[in-house]
Amino acid sequence: HPARVVQDRKTICEILVNGLARQEYRGYDSAGIGIDGDKPGEMFFFKEVGKVAGLRKKIAESNIDTSKTFLSQVSIAHTRWATHGPPSIANCHPLKSDPKAEFTVVHNGIVTNAAALRLLLQKRGYKFESDTDTEAVAILTKYIYDSQPDKRPSFTELVKTVLKELEGSFAFVFKSSHYPNEAVTARRGSPLLIGVKTEKKLKVDFVDVEFATEGESKSMDTRECFRGNPNFVNMINMIKMSFLVAPTSPGGLLAPPSQNANLMRTQSRAFMSEDGMPLPIEFFVASDASAIIEHTKRVLYLEDDDIAHIAEGELHIHRLRRTDGPQVASTRTIETLEIELAEIMKGKFDHFMQKEIYEQPESVVNTMRGRVNFDQNVITLGGLRAYLPIIRRGRRIIFCACGTSYHSAIATRAIFEELTEIPVTVELASDFLDRKTPIFRDDVCVFVSQSGETADSILAMRYCLERGALCVGVVNTVGSTISRETHCGVHINAGPEIGVASTKAYTSQYIALLMMALQLSEDRLSMLERRKQIIEGLHALPSQIKTVLDGDRSLQELAGGVLANQRSLLIMGRGYQYATCLEGALKIKEISYMHSEGILAGELKHGPLALIDENMPVIIIMTQDSLYPKVQSAYAQITARKAQPIVVCNENDLDIPKGCKTIRVPKTVDCLQGLLNIIPLQLLSYHLAVKNGFDVDFPRNLAKSVTTE
Ligand code: G6P
Repeated sequence: HPARVVQDRKTICEILVNGLARQEYRGYDSAGIGIDGDKPGEMFFFKEVGKVAGLRKKIAESNIDTSKTFLSQVSIAHTRWATHGPPSIANCHPLKSDPKAEFTVVHNGIVTNAAALRLLLQKRGYKFESDTDTEAVAILTKYIYDSQPDKRPSFTELVKTVLKELEGSFAFVFKSSHYPNEAVTARRGSPLLIGVKTEKKLKVDFVDVEFATEGESKSMDTRECFRGNPNFVNMINMIKMSFLVAPTSPGGLLAPPSQNANLMRTQSRAFMSEDGMPLPIEFFVASDASAIIEHTKRVLYLEDDDIAHIAEGELHIHRLRRTDGPQVASTRTIETLEIELAEIMKGKFDHFMQKEIYEQPESVVNTMRGRVNFDQNVITLGGLRAYLPIIRRGRRIIFCACGTSYHSAIATRAIFEELTEIPVTVELASDFLDRKTPIFRDDVCVFVSQSGETADSILAMRYCLERGALCVGVVNTVGSTISRETHCGVHINAGPEIGVASTKAYTSQYIALLMMALQLSEDRLSMLERRKQIIEGLHALPSQIKTVLDGDRSLQELAGGVLANQRSLLIMGRGYQYATCLEGALKIKEISYMHSEGILAGELKHGPLALIDENMPVIIIMTQDSLYPKVQSAYAQITARKAQPIVVCNENDLDIPKGCKTIRVPKTVDCLQGLLNIIPLQLLSYHLAVKNGFDVDFPRNLAKSVTTE
């Protein structure tokens, strides 16, 4: 085709490394890339322990010929968050099957039967160079390939056979010297999307997925007309931990052969331009959209057990057919993302976390945009409208989440119960699953998750789906697993959150849950006044958040003053503010590595009081609501034990004892006050981390989206 696209190696490396840098927030203990070499079948690898910047430097300092151009090529890259084996060059992806890199793999997830596979392969003489589960997959691929010398399978068939042997969860990209310019990518349990970039308008905006049994040939082969077409396939994957999904073939290689007869095959749909001509086309495979947004906004999300084959300008999606799993749609639509590149860049701020804290006056507006009618006190969450009667009839509402998202559910539980009069429980997803909590068809289960990919939350969601409960997703990331698999839900629309410590997602989740309670109670006359008061409060919120942010300098001073060099910090409060205490303490421990504990002031005398003396730093949240007198008595109890608490209180509160250190915030409706009170604690944790020279956006041992159990 005349419109050929030629790419040089320098551009290819830049695409990969920039993509990794954008996904770095998900895992960042080592990074690597694998690109085509100078001779056919040859590959060059670059790997570095630590952040992507180190890898970038290593590539820049190498003497590879960066001007070499390609008409068609596949490159893979990976940033790792260690699951099997410590961060090291040897454990860094891409991992290869042998010194010649016949098969190369990047992997996000955990293969739980890797140890058994490793033993089996070692017995057959294969050598391992890393501690990773991923290497076992690369070597297994070579083993299966080697064992079929007479009838070589297609790359897709080969990967299908490999996947049948794997237990656990994964998103993979496979590359091979035996299948040049081809890539196979597959997922089970870990997120994976494919971006499609072409200059011309695409004729198709979906890809068919066909279900057929092995041996049956249903696919139409449109390849012939695409031969020789220049295609570029850039693969960016990354590791994160992931979660366990029922294996397709229990026992795999180690089981009797009959159990391996799982079925799969076929799809075929080519890309062509409107004039029917084949397209010069690039495909980008990534764990999330941030890695590819600068190249294309057209993406399709793979489902569990999808296997995508990319070659010759075509994308084919096949499926491992599973009779037990949920019904899966038979097309994958190419969607257009709405994220802008600027949203995932730091701009004038030093850190993403700082930027995201400062974005809150706008992000809360985005959560409410088009949903709150301030003149008529009406809330419309379109994604829930059809389900309101079912939710209202439900026997109870169960919120299920992890980390900060869990705290947003704690923060809104009381107002939910007050407005809806439906019993509400709040569960940590991991504990919920550990207990195998009874769930019924008339339960309403709400899954709150910024990423929509947290393994514990997804497993809890699937547990509830299986039991017939109505599942609602409250999610930030559009297209994520939770947003796709729940029956209905609300996108919080906070925009991409990159900082590992969640800030703007918390305030937006809080508002989304509150809006849900307001919408559910719209038919309750007795709540008319209360709803009006809250909606008015929401109206004033953005400017009040700005006022709190204006006090940033005094929080910076606090971090450099009384709180500097402290080992511990207790944050106490009660009622609506208990969630603020928990979330504030989480922020502080996450990024400043200072021990911090959120304490329910009502529990003070049942234990925590023993910790109090003149040396114990305390923050007490004493904004004015119905529990104010009770918090005042907690204040009295701790000051009687010589504590010198810092008090978070309302601007004009004259009852605060003279001489005590205060953090003043504007007053709002009781159930909204937590939205303002959390912001000084976010800023405080930020300054404590900066002051200690810690990596604010990449706190040690943590990751933004935890895709393993
Ligand atoms: C990780 C993140 C936290 C987040 C939690 C839940 O631990 O570091 O910031 O709150 O996961 O994530 P989710 O995406 O489900 O809200």
